[in-house]
Amino acid sequence: MKENFDFHNLRTFKLLKASLFSIFFTTLLCSCKSPKNTSPTLLDPYQYSADKMVLAKRGAVVSAHALASDAGLLMLRKGGNAIDAAIATQLALAVVYPGAGNLGGGGFLVATLADGKKIAIDFREKAPLAAHTNMYLDKEGNPIPGLSLSGHLASGVPGAVAGIYAALRYARLPMSELIRPAIILAEKGFAITESEANSLNEARAEFIQINPTAFPFVKPEPWKTGDTLIQKDLAATLARIRDSGEAGFYRGTTANLIVAEMQRGKGMITHQDLVGYKAVERDPVLFTYKNYEIVTMPLPSSGGVLLPQMMKMAAKFNLPQFGFHSWRSVQLMIEIERRVYADRAQYLGDIDFIKVPVEKLTSDEYLVERMKDYDSTRPTPNNDLPVRLIPESEETTHLNTYDSEGNAVAITTTLNDSYGSRTIVQGAGFILNNEMDDFSIKPGVRNMYGALGGKANEIAPGKRMLSSMTPTIVLKNKRPYLIVGTPGGLTIPTSVFQTLINILEFGMNTEEAVNKPKFHFQWQPDSISIEPGFPLSVVRELEKRGYHFDSRGPIGRTEVIKVLADGRIEAVADIRGDDDAAGY
Ligand code: DON
Repeated sequence: MKENFDFHNLRTFKLLKASLFSIFFTTLLCSCKSPKNTSPTLLDPYQYSADKMVLAKRGAVVSAHALASDAGLLMLRKGGNAIDAAIATQLALAVVYPGAGNLGGGGFLVATLADGKKIAIDFREKAPLAAHTNMYLDKEGNPIPGLSLSGHLASGVPGAVAGIYAALRYARLPMSELIRPAIILAEKGFAITESEANSLNEARAEFIQINPTAFPFVKPEPWKTGDTLIQKDLAATLARIRDSGEAGFYRGTTANLIVAEMQRGKGMITHQDLVGYKAVERDPVLFTYKNYEIVTMPLPSSGGVLLPQMMKMAAKFNLPQFGFHSWRSVQLMIEIERRVYADRAQYLGDIDFIKVPVEKLTSDEYLVERMKDYDSTRPTPNNDLPVRLIPESEETTHLNTYDSEGNAVAITTTLNDSYGSRTIVQGAGFILNNEMDDFSIKPGVRNMYGALGGKANEIAPGKRMLSSMTPTIVLKNKRPYLIVGTPGGLTIPTSVFQTLINILEFGMNTEEAVNKPKFHFQWQPDSISIEPGFPLSVVRELEKRGYHFDSRGPIGRTEVIKVLADGRIEAVADIRGDDDAAGY
């Protein structure tokens, strides 16, 4: 087994920056410095901490950043519902978590409403109209390194703002209220966490290389914990969105700035692309797992195929009898993952462009057939040589909200890689995604996450690239029971799968289910990735039986809200990041 553990600091962080600025800021917001979760005002953005678990009576939010969870909580306290909270949290993430929170990216929203309605909003980026299958290949037909990942050509047409407005019809509060925390945080700044400081320092050279003029993510000296990040241009963009709705992004000043940026860097996104972008409300995927009904995102999220496949395959076995992290249960789950990731590479892509046999792939008959060659003593051979998986960042982000009426929301959103294409729209202050890399840029060529793909996921103008983001809600007796999701690229469906199995089969409490070490297998490369703390005894048992392992950093940052039998709400934030749970 190769050893390249990346032991991150998994501790809850604490920021303390006493300053006159802070006093000014809290006063401006109306407010008093009351402790978190008891005050109807926003947290002090210079002095805050992350809570990893809250037990709440009326509503809860869990997200990648304390200030973003707090913005959502404020909306709940003001009488907003879970959709209001989710929108405010997402907008705040675009400010306080610039590596993944975004205006220049896209994502998916899954919600179940108290009246029984189930919603799936697709605001995934689209290939620009000028995009074509060979756009990342040289004259000999070989991929040009980095072109789909870095700089202007890597960006798909952003969907985030359209997604927020598509969700707004289910909200109660006006946009001016929902966006206010984000605008203030951008305008006045906030103290950055240690991990944000490290990430900004890591991205510094590429930021400077791609962006010729000054912008807030780079300063002369390195960032350190507690430094203030102020984003004036972003505040102005948010104000335009507040004042003009979707048109504040897809038309007028912001659109002009995006198109000017594209022209500066030979990108492809045009006014026609921006005006033409629409978020799509799709039928959510619904499937039954034992006594639970599970609601998740359909294509272009591969999660909507992989999760039902994995859960239905697992349901045929007695996992509790095998035991959590027993070599037997891990081996079974590896073999399940092998099969579904092979299907992903072969069949999945944007259903607006290609036919995908979703019903067949998720049918009981097919899944039984697919497991016919399963052998509990040895690996089912892959027909490819092992290739090492490129380590992934966790730079997508997931949030969950739940309110006192029983509305539940799960959103996963991303720029793809950390800080996306690292292209900042000059004058507009936000970073553009590098989601084009999620297409299969050439059959047989792996993307950043080691994903293979073919025709189904090839580039076409206006097409959405295949995603792994899997925002999911589990219902019990028709009421929300678990709200789950995570970043992690190709590891997302396995993280959601393992978290659900941990709770539903191994009977773990929510914190354990989220924080116990995970493993990930994706068919090819033929090697199982494990995170720090995964039991080496299991590795040895499975190596004896012909399996290969590699070590990597943390897998996912899973957020879970669980509604307890007595109606209390347990919100759990993953210890792998700065993630924060808030409730009241
Ligand atoms: O849509 C997807 O599946 C990816 N672009 C998500 C990227 C991600 O989760 C980043 N973190 N590893």
